[in-house]
Amino acid sequence: MTASIRPLVAGNWKMNGLSSDLAELKEMAAGFEDASGGAADGLICTPATLIERAVRAVDGTALAIGGEDCHANETGAHTGDVSAEMIADCGASHVIVGHSERRTDHAETDEMVAEKAKAVWRGGLVAIICIGETEAQRKANETLDVLAQQIAGSVPDSANAENSVVAYEPVWAIGTGLTPTANDVAEAHAHIRERLIERLGDNGKTVRILYGGSVKPSNADELMAVENVNGALIGGASLKAADFLGIAKTYRG
Ligand code: 13P
Repeated sequence: MTASIRPLVAGNWKMNGLSSDLAELKEMAAGFEDASGGAADGLICTPATLIERAVRAVDGTALAIGGEDCHANETGAHTGDVSAEMIADCGASHVIVGHSERRTDHAETDEMVAEKAKAVWRGGLVAIICIGETEAQRKANETLDVLAQQIAGSVPDSANAENSVVAYEPVWAIGTGLTPTANDVAEAHAHIRERLIERLGDNGKTVRILYGGSVKPSNADELMAVENVNGALIGGASLKAADFLGIAKTYRG
């Protein structure tokens, strides 16, 4: 099943990136096709302030650009927010929704995340819907239940491989240098795949499931080889071309 899904190597720049970082982005874009051997799609999600310039910087390359969040509405009195339509207007193709940092910093619930995913589709873009357990939930052996709940609440019924990607990011693995074992990743991703199929029928078979949380060139081969891992969502290591391309190389074969 996994073999037929084209992987996605995605970066999330979070609240990082100024004009001066566009040179790094250009280097990633120039090297991505060669690094991945053309065997994976590449994406960098930037802060809203950089999207339009990032789109211009990667023009004509295999790298796409996405946003990191959007409001559920198209327009209106929501000072400081941006809509999926605005992100689409900048030339982006994807938007991350429900990242654990949004769930924590902005008290986003599964219901809000599902509304945002639908907003992303309304804007004609692909939603990257993030799920993942906290350290306390993992210690309490609740990981699989939490993932099932998050899928039930955050993934809208009409999700499919064209409009959605699911990213599994254990909260305790984000930015910590810690990662689950390959066996734990396999268990979580198999569980996510089963829940997606239960929920979405055949569409659940082809939705990409990314792993995120301390992915770097030194662990990418092992993590990306796990069954039902269809790519990576990369934070820190997506800020440097050498690291991002080093991860993409895992697909060169
Ligand atoms: P790190 O790769 O820095 O752990 O971040 C992962 C992440 O949150 C990507 O969305």
